[in-house]
Amino acid sequence: MTMTDRLTIAMPKGRIFGEAVQLLRETGLDLPGDLAEEESRKLTVSVPKLGFSFLLVKPVDVPAYVEHGVADLGVVGKDVLMEEERDVYELLDLKISPCRISVAGLPDWSPVIHPKVATKYPRIADQYFREQGQQVEVIRLNGSVELAPRIGLADRIVDIVSTGRTLKENGLVELEFIKDVTSRLIANRASYRLKSGVIDDLYQRLAERIDREEEIV
Ligand code: PRP
Repeated sequence: MTMTDRLTIAMPKGRIFGEAVQLLRETGLDLPGDLAEEESRKLTVSVPKLGFSFLLVKPVDVPAYVEHGVADLGVVGKDVLMEEERDVYELLDLKISPCRISVAGLPDWSPVIHPKVATKYPRIADQYFREQGQQVEVIRLNGSVELAPRIGLADRIVDIVSTGRTLKENGLVELEFIKDVTSRLIANRASYRLKSGVIDDLYQRLAERIDREEEIV
């Protein structure tokens, strides 16, 4: 196997890694059964016979690893891609890990002239409210965003909703839908040229698998 046959792929730790490994398996690639074990604390995982190395990183950091070329490919949510605006190719919608970006708040909220909006997605929130013609003050947080309206830090939040459980358990309701989100395959621009053989092969396998799935649904 030559250098240009090997691929380094950055992935978010946890659920998305598990779903992505499953998808890769469904394309016919022979990946070991214990590759995405939940309890593992390892940050790199290799599959030498396929020439794959996975870097397991924070979701928000995946585009940076790919843009800087330490990873040839990455799997990352469209939410992160929109927020990060990195110089990478978005190759494919993998249709895994579906969720949505929404505005949420307390059920008894009342309109305020300049609402405060807490979010991990300041760029997305800013753009959304600008398009709505509404002036807001965006407060950037790194997590536990659902706490903000309850303790008076913000009037509303912009965050990911998947099952809706986090909102419910924190006494919040979904108020406005912003965008559907799924995970995407992204590529480093130079790798896309230098490793076009292996990247094309992987792309074709994934695209065929996703199309087949859609026909069944
Ligand atoms: C995301 C999001 C919500 C939760 C939504 O957080 O920020 O808190 O998932 O999922 P649900 O609708 O199924 O409850 P994540 O688990 O990624 O953790 P984070 O808050 O550390 O970003």
